[in-house]
Amino acid sequence: MKFAVSGKGGVGKTTLTALLAQVYADLGKEVLAVDADPSPCLAGALGFPLELRRQLHPIAEMDELIEERTGAKPGMVGGFFTLNPRVDDIPERFSITHRNVRLLEMGSVDMGGSGCICPEGAMLKTLFTHLLFRKDEVLMLDMYAGVEHLGRATVDFVDAMIIVVEPTRRSLGTAGQIKKLAMDIGLSRLLLVGNKVRNLEEKAFLEQESPDIPILGFMPADLSVQEADRMGIPVYDHVPDLKSAAQEMVGKLNKMDFER
Ligand SMILES: Nc1ncnc2c1ncn2[C@@H]1O[C@H](COP(=O)(O)OP(=O)(O)OP(=O)(O)O)[C@@H](O)[C@H]1O
Ligand SMILES: [Mg+2]
Repeated sequence: MKFAVSGKGGVGKTTLTALLAQVYADLGKEVLAVDADPSPCLAGALGFPLELRRQLHPIAEMDELIEERTGAKPGMVGGFFTLNPRVDDIPERFSITHRNVRLLEMGSVDMGGSGCICPEGAMLKTLFTHLLFRKDEVLMLDMYAGVEHLGRATVDFVDAMIIVVEPTRRSLGTAGQIKKLAMDIGLSRLLLVGNKVRNLEEKAFLEQESPDIPILGFMPADLSVQEADRMGIPVYDHVPDLKSAAQEMVGKLNKMDFER
């Protein structure tokens, strides 16, 4: 199963991605978590120890690798380079694994206007497509905030896109925009997760105002989430209510039919 997690900035995409990844891993699934945020922080959310994190480098910043595979130096615009570099060995070679979650950082490419025609752009695009075709049991993609990056290469092959919202009109507005873009590229399998929900009123608000996206679940607002961040430990270990909410979501996901 392959899921992309998106939503407005700061709504809890990384928190949810890490929780779901760990729930699946603890159920014995093979999990690949992919951090596609230009300022990556999924490693921290998953509790990867520092020694391991030091070995992890965003693929987009591996200049030598990019040059070796595409035939051109990163940063180059125009000129000749291959648009479909070899990438099949990358997930295994450049990922780190902790508590049965394998993690890969994509890094960022300056898309500069109408799509990036540069070696690092070709590399990431090919890698995304490869990841989405791989037979990993579970792939969790932590996307970056907003909507502008949503393109075929990133979401076409996911079983579902999970959109995280807070009980605010703004985050629901972003969810609506994401839905529209997703529909435009033919991705209709969307699920909504309401995060930072403080009471029944806020839950009802999300239920009533959701832009017609099936609700996968809710996570309560809990100050221990920030505490976990300060302590450098996963929310999964520190906040039982969020862990159980994520377990419930996985229970639901397991019952869904994602025939494409
Ligand atoms: N249920 C919750 N209760 C309280 N605080 C939360 C909850 N979920 C997330 N947070 C806090 O909200 C902040 C943003 O969370 P997170 O980094 O998961 O969001 P994000 O959507 O990935 O953000 P970004 O857009 O920056 O990538 C963090 O400080 C996190 O600790
Ligand atoms: Mg994030």
